Amino acid sequence: MVLSTSNGASPTVYLETYGCQMNIADSELVSGVLRAAGYSNAESPENADVILLNTCAIRDHAEERVLGRLSVLAQLKSRRPEVRLGLLGCMAQHNRARLIEQAPYLDLVAGPDTYRRLPELIRSARFDPAVDLRLDRNETYAGLPSQREGGVRAYVTAMRGCDKFCAFCVVPYVRGRERSVPAAALIREIGELAEHGVKEVVLLGQTVNAYRDGDVDFGKLLRKVAAIDGLERIRFTSPHPSDMSDSVIEAMATEPKVQPYLHLPVQSGSDRVLAAMARGYTTGEYLDLVARLRGAIPGLALSTDIIVGFHGEEEADFEATLELMTEIAYDSAFTFKYSLRQNTGAYKLGDTVSEAEKSRRLSAVIALQEAISLERNRATIGAEYPVLVEGPARRGQGMLAGKAPQFKTAVFPARSGVVPGQTVRVRIESATAHSLTGVQV
Ligand code: 5AD
Ligand code: SF4
Repeated sequence: MVLSTSNGASPTVYLETYGCQMNIADSELVSGVLRAAGYSNAESPENADVILLNTCAIRDHAEERVLGRLSVLAQLKSRRPEVRLGLLGCMAQHNRARLIEQAPYLDLVAGPDTYRRLPELIRSARFDPAVDLRLDRNETYAGLPSQREGGVRAYVTAMRGCDKFCAFCVVPYVRGRERSVPAAALIREIGELAEHGVKEVVLLGQTVNAYRDGDVDFGKLLRKVAAIDGLERIRFTSPHPSDMSDSVIEAMATEPKVQPYLHLPVQSGSDRVLAAMARGYTTGEYLDLVARLRGAIPGLALSTDIIVGFHGEEEADFEATLELMTEIAYDSAFTFKYSLRQNTGAYKLGDTVSEAEKSRRLSAVIALQEAISLERNRATIGAEYPVLVEGPARRGQGMLAGKAPQFKTAVFPARSGVVPGQTVRVRIESATAHSLTGVQV
């Protein structure tokens, strides 16, 4: 039985997603679960029977955006009280009590391990909100069909949760303990995607290279995925530096389908700050790892995550971060101001860096990275890359866009007959800090 609508048609759901790739993949799973329960997708919240927000709790800013959106949707609900309004994901898990108090119009609050029960939860949401925030250390959603966007690339969750407990991070508290999707289920799912024309798969996990199913570690998993016919490219995100084992490096170096790109979050260039963050490595160990990776994988592109203004970060620590970024010369970086998160190890320590100072440090890391990215991208001018075509470029009529192996966007004039999913050779002629432009050869 599904939720019935006043005119007897199948009920519709509008789902909005915030946050990381894992959340986008979770939303595809939620859509799959709800479709199996008889729901169809609504194009906008105005005409939906159920409105769901899949939320992120990683920084305060992410939560503020969702709270703002919720107050707009509350007005819609006051006009159409029969609408069911629900909050899913990390913020639901993080803010349970406060949310129910601050947003009394919510019909549903559901954490990231409850999506199998979602149809039931929506049905039971009546006068009191239906709340399910149980974390389940065994839930991997293995075998549940996702409703994907389609396209040449698919994101597939390989492991969920995190056991690392970095001092700044709320993820282990909201997503629970580390658990891996059984390899057999993953191989089946990716095999089906390849049969349906998917060319590239991105394996996802908060610490994806900590993957383990019996004797299948992440390196072995990469090899198994590489054996799938029809699949052309394999990527993964995000690995943790401490789990970057020889097995994984060897698989990257020897399996041609595994692409030469790695997002390797460093967070800080100061050993003192890294220790306070409980990251589990020193800058020396991280630099050794980068040297081993670059030695084993020719043409490897690297990106990273940087946090500025963590508790106790002094000017000298910050400068050490700038130095490390310069020394490594990342192809790109995601940069963040430290945001104090309740429950985390560092929460009680509070903030020691003012908001203005965090902004100054953030501007400096962004400016440095822009210059390095531009230099790295300009160095590709004249080179030829196999580009997996994704579709029309966002800007520039008659242009196609796709990704080079290094995950850099390449834009080039469309030749007739070239379609998404095809790999073409592109010679790079110009570059900005964010993309490459070239011609098909
Ligand atoms: N404040 C700022 N950035 C954070 N991240 C995680 N937690 C916080 C926080 N409390 C960043 C880290 C991580 C990325 C996904 O988000 O850099 O790698
Ligand atoms: Fe958060 Fe650290 Fe786990 Fe990454 S490894 S999800 S930063 S606790």
